[in-house]
Amino acid sequence: MPLVSLIDMYKPANEKHYAIGHFNINNMEFVQSALEAADELKSPIILAASTSALKYGGFDYLIDLVKTGAKKVSVPVALHLDHGATIEDAEKCINAGFTSVMIDASHEDFEENIRITQEVVKMAHPKNIAVEAELGRLGGIEDDVSVSKRDACLTDPDQAVEFVEKTKVDALAVAVGTSHGAYKFKGEAKLAFNRIEEIKKRVGIPLVLHGASGVDPAVVAKAEKFGAKLPGAKGVPDEAYKKAIELGINKINIDTDLRLTWVATVREVLAGNPKVFDPRKILGPAREAVKAVIMNKIKLFQSDGKA
Ligand code: G3H
Ligand code: 13P
Ligand code: ZN
Repeated sequence: MPLVSLIDMYKPANEKHYAIGHFNINNMEFVQSALEAADELKSPIILAASTSALKYGGFDYLIDLVKTGAKKVSVPVALHLDHGATIEDAEKCINAGFTSVMIDASHEDFEENIRITQEVVKMAHPKNIAVEAELGRLGGIEDDVSVSKRDACLTDPDQAVEFVEKTKVDALAVAVGTSHGAYKFKGEAKLAFNRIEEIKKRVGIPLVLHGASGVDPAVVAKAEKFGAKLPGAKGVPDEAYKKAIELGINKINIDTDLRLTWVATVREVLAGNPKVFDPRKILGPAREAVKAVIMNKIKLFQSDGKA
């Protein structure tokens, strides 16, 4: 079916307390893995392209891949700009048929973040395109950091209320202790669930968990067995998704888990088949492995059967 607005996908997710998976894509195989997984599990899905993915894959190429793939499946598919850095980035995607854009001005001061986000909302909402913004700074909660320092990075609930009221964003990315990449926590995995709970109670809109990859130790071990070096890799435990969803997270962003699975599989295939030089025999198994990871996430996010 044609791409669906994330505004329309958020509504039932928020009412029925499940999260829609956001999966980063960079090329054809990742698009196929994600769409097949969603279709088989009858789940809505978000395919997300970062500005660097759009540069790597080619802006039109990636958009057309997603649009073509979406037409082949019978579940709602949203195309989302991940971490749009400028108003111009967002505008380009709004005009090209994205159905959701993230404007990430979280590094700016609060007032400037509001102003930039308002500009994007003004362009997106007349076209029924969803806008996600971010407040706070993503980063692990370390044991040896003082409580006040730690809290300063997390999303402030009072600011969240003012931000949502002034910008009218459809979803808010919150900083609650996760971070991007494969090294999220030095010790125990800690998420500030009380922040999610308080912010959700006060703003009501869908909240987004960035940096949510699980960094499965078995996948890391497999990649390392075949030559990768990923000491200290650590992610968000599966149980945390359930709790975060119960408290108000409706969109969960996954990129690193797909990358790790892809690289572990490609390394294993290459190591076990030294005579193979057909890319399809190398990329095909990786496409299947990534699909399996996405299916598992969809089940954990409880969006299966919701399409
Ligand atoms: O949050 C960032 C995503 O993982 C995308 O990363 O900019 O390397 O494509 P990227
Ligand atoms: P991970 O690096 O944990 O997969 O997070 C991805 C993300 O937040 C994309 O916006
Ligand atoms: Zn992110």
